[in-house]
Amino acid sequence: MQHKHGHFARPSTAASYAVNTRNKVPGLDDLHRMVMLLLAEQAPESAHILVVGAGGGMETRAMAEAQAGWRFTGVDPSTAMLDAARKTLEDFGSRVDLIEGTVDQAPSGPFDGATCLLMMHHLDKGDRLHTLRETHRRLKPGAHLVMLEHSAPGPDPLLWMTRSVLFGDRSGIGWEQAEATAKTMSTHLSLLSPSDEEDALRAAGFDNVQMFYAAFSFRGWVARAARSSA
Ligand SMILES: C[S@@+](CC[C@H](N)C(=O)[O-])C[C@H]1O[C@@H](n2cnc3c(N)ncnc32)[C@H](O)[C@@H]1O
Repeated sequence: MQHKHGHFARPSTAASYAVNTRNKVPGLDDLHRMVMLLLAEQAPESAHILVVGAGGGMETRAMAEAQAGWRFTGVDPSTAMLDAARKTLEDFGSRVDLIEGTVDQAPSGPFDGATCLLMMHHLDKGDRLHTLRETHRRLKPGAHLVMLEHSAPGPDPLLWMTRSVLFGDRSGIGWEQAEATAKTMSTHLSLLSPSDEEDALRAAGFDNVQMFYAAFSFRGWVARAARSSA
């Protein structure tokens, strides 16, 4: 499996990650609370949660603060982003295990829930399906996966990405520059339409696929691990 995490391998990216992400993703802290609540619908008080793409540690910290009985296994192929996660999570070290790698390096679980936040849009369709299948394989039947990423909503995905760039900007760039940045991002990211994203979740074995978050180009889903693997 190809790792497209070059950008996140840079220590400078990892260091500025928390501030940038809060600026770019509308309502990030509330979003993390929604993720925790969606997982808690199926996860017990002593849940073990798999965090795919755990770099930076922000979602794991939010969940650990809200759920004193949960423990976490996080995987991420970027050393720099894992180092940032270790710092973010230093108060919760006894409940968090961080592994350098992809979901392939995660233990088999089975886990009581999983997250995959702001990461799938870095993977091409094949790697995405592989990651979703391998995540599904590690979940208890009925457990929830929460996924969030940049999507390509119709009929004009570039318009939505331009709006996201303007939202995240704090320096007053104009529309043209935002659109140019959006074009570059759309070339580098692997963006699927929301319905293709939902199809990928189902193809990987999830059912009850439901969108819970939409903000400009961002979309979030909760899906349930079906009883039999795809
Ligand atoms: C934008 S960051 C998101 C980090 C975190 N999930 C969050 O929401 O703040 C994307 C992360 O995905 C990681 N990544 C890239 N390819 C991956 C893969 N195949 N499996 C797991 N993580 C991956 C990158 O190294 C990076 O840390």
